Amino acid sequence: MLIRSAKFLTSNTRVDQCPVPDKPEYAFIGRSNVGKSSLINMLTGHKGLAKTSAQPGKTQLINHFLINDYWYLVDLPGYGYAKVSKDSRAAWERMIRFYLRERPNLTCVFVLIDSRHEPLAPDLAFIDMLGTMGVPFVLVFTKADKQSALRTQQNVAAYTAKLSETWDELPRQFITSASEKTGRDEVLSFIEEVNQQ
Ligand code: GTP
Ligand code: MG
Repeated sequence: MLIRSAKFLTSNTRVDQCPVPDKPEYAFIGRSNVGKSSLINMLTGHKGLAKTSAQPGKTQLINHFLINDYWYLVDLPGYGYAKVSKDSRAAWERMIRFYLRERPNLTCVFVLIDSRHEPLAPDLAFIDMLGTMGVPFVLVFTKADKQSALRTQQNVAAYTAKLSETWDELPRQFITSASEKTGRDEVLSFIEEVNQQ
């Protein structure tokens, strides 16, 4: 898919203040620092569209972007950041649960996972929550440039083996690198395919 336009629309904590849910919506979520905002910039080809930082916890709000005047991309705050207080963790969970439940146009959630890591409890818990809520999702293994392709494949295989313990059918998977633009065509083609359904 060609990205003809990518515009920032709104940032907020309240789902009822998000843009009118009249377009297909794709949300990016995962641990703090996993590369959600960087991936959004890579996919859209707009470097500063979503704010990125080496410091975890950069994205704090629900950020909507309008792509090609036809679909929404959403950058969400990450989870699993150790320095966050119990209260703000609970607030995050409330906001995200509400968002997942109350966005009728939410078409697919991209769960981002650092391709260098073993399966981690917060990711597995989040994936389970999506399953329980019946939210469609796919997996994106990020930062593939940080190691060899073989290592990435091994980590992805370990991940899917772990998921197979609880899931009969595995979600679709993508391998990406924001710096090398790996996986860009695959992710955009997937969105285009789903948009046409
Ligand atoms: P929060 O908003 O804090 O939850 O983080 P995020 O998931 O949006 O991560 P962000 O895109 O801000 O990236 C975090 C750090 O990882 C930044 O220093 C990025 O430059 C770096 N990074 C993101 N993606 C990649 C990648 O594919 N390869 C490499 N090498 N670095 C990356
Ligand atoms: Mg971010």
